[in-house]
Amino acid sequence: MSVRSPRRLLIAGAAGFIGSNFVRLLRTTRPDVEITVLDKLTYAGNLANLAEFEGQPGYRFVQGDICDEKVVRSLAKEVDGIVNFAAETHVDRSLMDPFNFIETDVRGTAVLCEAAREFRHEVFLLVSTDEVYGEVMEGRSKEDDPFRPRSPYSASKAGGEHIAHAYAASFGLPLLVTRGSNTYGPYQYPEKLIPVLLTNAIDDLRLPLYGEGRAVRDYVYVEDHCRAIDLVLHEAPLSGGAYNIGTGRESSGRQVADAVLDILGKPHSLIEYVVDRPGHDYRYAVDVTRVTQLGWEPVVDFRDGLLKTADWYREHEEWWRPLKSGEYWEYYKKNYKPKI
Ligand code: NAD
Ligand code: TYD
Repeated sequence: MSVRSPRRLLIAGAAGFIGSNFVRLLRTTRPDVEITVLDKLTYAGNLANLAEFEGQPGYRFVQGDICDEKVVRSLAKEVDGIVNFAAETHVDRSLMDPFNFIETDVRGTAVLCEAAREFRHEVFLLVSTDEVYGEVMEGRSKEDDPFRPRSPYSASKAGGEHIAHAYAASFGLPLLVTRGSNTYGPYQYPEKLIPVLLTNAIDDLRLPLYGEGRAVRDYVYVEDHCRAIDLVLHEAPLSGGAYNIGTGRESSGRQVADAVLDILGKPHSLIEYVVDRPGHDYRYAVDVTRVTQLGWEPVVDFRDGLLKTADWYREHEEWWRPLKSGEYWEYYKKNYKPKI
């Protein structure tokens, strides 16, 4: 018996990477749950990620903005809970256009919280990030640690979280929060480290590394991350608050690039150290005791996950090639500067 089983869910931002994988998990494991996806279809949103569900009973897609109160209210009144993946998500882009991040990640989250309060939802799950803790050079962040975000992305995510916690404290919003670490796997837009490295290496392009590839992250496979969100959504007590999600294993950018090149059989001379990201956080690491106590553990180790992901990108060029055109290369040129 689950702690809760919301029958009708509004899932915002599910045309993106993690959200579309989450819908896939739900459709398989909880086919009776009625799903409404709300997604603005920004450059990172892609209907191809959800194409297999189109026309299925109990599934519908609505294109719209989480900042649009009218649209959000009209959908929120027909569901029992909201899971919010919708966000501007890329640190490098947040350094170019912070306001877009503040609008969606802070205000958009507030609009969803308000609708959940108005329609007395059973549950509101906010998909947050370990980046809200900021850089941690030693030890591991615990859920009650203070937020010290250092990029416009992580500050906006922290802002959205603060609003949600304020709604929980002030209005009794039935809030749960997940703080996942860096996630990788199929359907990830090729701007984050792993899909940039994989798709560039497939095409024999340079693999750009900031900070000589010394910064470390805890890379969690997307299916593991989605199982953790599902578990928190259905099994966590509302007093549980936030749950870190990660594997406890760290990899540097250089280690990831080396592994990608080995898997694809490409020369390591493709690695290029570029000008470092401003304010680059050199390490995130989370303590996952709390989610482990709920019964979660990651099952895909990094080497296997990277192999699966490399295979997927090799077999789905029709998915990512159209994304790497026009606006993408303009962004790319603006973002990466050779070291002189
Ligand atoms: P993504 O960039 O792939 O997808 C984001 C989705 O949100 C897109 O479909 C986009 O169209 C949609 N969106 C953006 N602004 C919107 C708006 N105003 N209204 C409606 N939809 C909008 O992101 P992702 O990597 O799948 O991340 C999903 C969530 O998980 C985010 O909240 C992110 O902060 C969090 N997260 C991501 C990672 C990671 O490594 N990718 C790790 C931890 C947490
Ligand atoms: P990224 O995938 O952008 O995620 P995060 O939100 O954690 O910054 O970056 C992961 C790490 O890889 C981070 O240390 C920055 C580094 N990185 C590169 O070295 N080169 C790249 O092209 C990208 C996108 C990231």
